[in-house]
Amino acid sequence: MSESVSKRELFQNEFGESTMSNIELINKRRVINGVDDGLMQVSPLKHPWAYEIFENMIKNNWVPQEVPMQKDVEQWNDPKGLTDQERNVYKKSLAFVSNLDGLQTNNLACNIIRHITSPEVVLGIVRQTYEEALHVQSYATMIEALALDPEDVYGLYRKDQDLFEKNKQVLAAVSKISDPTFQTGTLKNDQMFLEACVGNIILEGIYFYSAFLTFYVLKRNNKMPGSAEMIQFINRDEDVHLQLFIKITNAIKEEQPELWTPEFQAQIVQNVKDGVELEYSWGASCMGEGILGLTPNSLKEYLQFIGDMRLIAIGLPKVWNSKNPFPWIDEYTQGSMIEVNFFEGTVKEYQTGSLEW
Ligand SMILES: [Fe+2]
Ligand SMILES: [Fe+2]
Repeated sequence: MSESVSKRELFQNEFGESTMSNIELINKRRVINGVDDGLMQVSPLKHPWAYEIFENMIKNNWVPQEVPMQKDVEQWNDPKGLTDQERNVYKKSLAFVSNLDGLQTNNLACNIIRHITSPEVVLGIVRQTYEEALHVQSYATMIEALALDPEDVYGLYRKDQDLFEKNKQVLAAVSKISDPTFQTGTLKNDQMFLEACVGNIILEGIYFYSAFLTFYVLKRNNKMPGSAEMIQFINRDEDVHLQLFIKITNAIKEEQPELWTPEFQAQIVQNVKDGVELEYSWGASCMGEGILGLTPNSLKEYLQFIGDMRLIAIGLPKVWNSKNPFPWIDEYTQGSMIEVNFFEGTVKEYQTGSLEW
């Protein structure tokens, strides 16, 4: 039986003094299906990890306008700056990540947040939604700086069948709970919600990655450094989003262990496998035979490597046991950025905490 009391229900009846104390209320707090008055009382906390993530997100403040794009503009306008294939991969990668962040902004706001009954988790998702909007702005900044035709980026999915199919599948995965009448509180619906949470892990932790890789490979070859820097900021945010949804998934598993059946686990593993496969076919279709040392085979290995990491993070066994073919990527995505002195200027000033993320 669900203990869920919707935010509206609590205020539907006439006032009747409740004997329930604040502590009792907080003890009944759950990620979904908890008692929630909708008033965002975040002290004390039931899910301190969510508040910690929220605070980390605030430390990661940045704005796209501060990323220097001058060198990118020069290289883009120089006929010898990039090969046609590199330009093509650049535009396709930008098209996909811009579509994906746009979709995620709406997904969080419309599908996810209304079912969350832990105010501290709501804080994290609200901040995440803002960051996705910031990413939407980042891609617009890149399009404008390089004077790209927005039709070639935002509109690419209407001309490129691979991108159309990929967007369609991503949208289908996050749309299972988009029916406005969908409510949590039954085994089936709670499993659907949990599956949507893993859908977010796949989106944040797998789908973005072939595009990210493209920008980093270009940067390693001294091409489009401003774009890579923009992507690094976005990647840092996405890593925190990934953390948030891994925690949400694991907390729901802990609070409602009946959802985590062997059949359901098999479905989740299948979804991760499908995610890796989908990302691979899209990445391979973008790069053709390969660019600058990045080949379809190495991409596949990399995606399998990160697919395994996502599975382990939610308590499932590895599927592929692949190795990371791009160990240098740590420079771009993890703490070693401190050594390369990456986050400079205003962004660094905001960083009141450590850069371990
Ligand atoms: Fe994003
Ligand atoms: Fe994200």
